[in-house]
Amino acid sequence: MGPWTESVYCRLDALPCAPEALAGLILSPGEREHWRSMRAVAKRRQEWLLGRAVAKETVRALLARIMEAPPAPAQIEILPDSYGCPKVHYCGAALQGAPAPALSIAHSQGTAVALGILDPDARVGIDLESLTSRREDFESVAFSPDERGLLAALTPELRQEWALRMWCAKEATGKALGRGLSAGLLAFHITRLDTARGTIEIELRDGALLQCAQLKNMSLNIYTARESDFIFSAIIYYQQGAVRMRPSRQEILDYLLQKMGELTQDWDYPDPVRPESKLFTELGFESLDAVVLCTAIQEHYQTPMPFAELLAEIGQQQRDLSINELTDFVNIHLAAPAGAGTQRRVQ
Ligand SMILES: CC(C)(COP(=O)(O)OP(=O)(O)OC[C@H]1O[C@@H](n2cnc3c(N)ncnc32)[C@H](O)[C@@H]1OP(=O)(O)O)[C@@H](O)C(=O)NCCC(=O)NCCS
Repeated sequence: MGPWTESVYCRLDALPCAPEALAGLILSPGEREHWRSMRAVAKRRQEWLLGRAVAKETVRALLARIMEAPPAPAQIEILPDSYGCPKVHYCGAALQGAPAPALSIAHSQGTAVALGILDPDARVGIDLESLTSRREDFESVAFSPDERGLLAALTPELRQEWALRMWCAKEATGKALGRGLSAGLLAFHITRLDTARGTIEIELRDGALLQCAQLKNMSLNIYTARESDFIFSAIIYYQQGAVRMRPSRQEILDYLLQKMGELTQDWDYPDPVRPESKLFTELGFESLDAVVLCTAIQEHYQTPMPFAELLAEIGQQQRDLSINELTDFVNIHLAAPAGAGTQRRVQ
């Protein structure tokens, strides 16, 4: 497990200050506009805000694994896509191209939780429900006869809790697919409960399979847990191949050091090229050498990256670029999802 595949979970049990004050502190301009124009009761507006607060902490904790200084909450913008699924964007030129983690949010009874993973190609879903607010009669609508059979096999003490775990498992799976439960509750078919481990297996059917055909004939494992009166569920699904395609930061650094060695072999340096070496002042790079290096990097990784903007920025700021900084730049842009700023060519 590296920083791209480790998940982060955060929980908040109350707003840390008055809603207006918190909104002023943590929301981006776009989110403030969304929050102001929400036509919803105060309870819903507060839970949305609480969800933003916990989700932003999750994103910051994820980015702290690959950046020296993670962005401030207001630089992280989390807005719903057309299905309601939360999507991460960033404000400010410096963060353009930073990886947008896969993220999921849930709230209930004044508590909000978020689950995120840096790999933007992964899918995550989280849900949270309170046992105290459970309705008595939801099983006949929420579950198929087969699923009710699984419940009937449990002891009476476990039955109520596991009915809610099953519900939460369906919701988390719907969120991971990005469409919620819009395919219908029975399209998330529960095939197995493991009460010892707290896991629930789900197979997708009908409308849910149309939303995610690659999950046909696959069992999804959803983790559930109880903590006092709350039931939690979570699913993380790594899309095959997506993570493997990405080199680690160390591999990028090794490649850059080796490439620099090749490019500069006739330049007669007294010291070896190090991660801290600066391209222009220390290694004597000229503009054309930098462009040759950037072209070689793009070809090596088969991924266009905004090097022109990077070179223009350091030119304007009249500063130099270390191999370490170049490594971070490449690392961030190799992580961007295909189509988000860069077009990845998959071999
Ligand atoms: C998405 C859904 C599962 C949320 O369940 P819920 O119990 O109402 O609310 P939760 O607190 O668990 O989760 C809410 C969060 O889910 C997230 N969410 C909403 N739609 C989502 C989607 N399509 N994909 C992923 N996440 C979604 C949002 O972050 C939302 O919080 P926010 O709006 O404050 O950011 C549910 O509303 C749903 O399926 N909606 C779409 C279809 C529908 O209404 N079907 C009726 C089924 S009975």
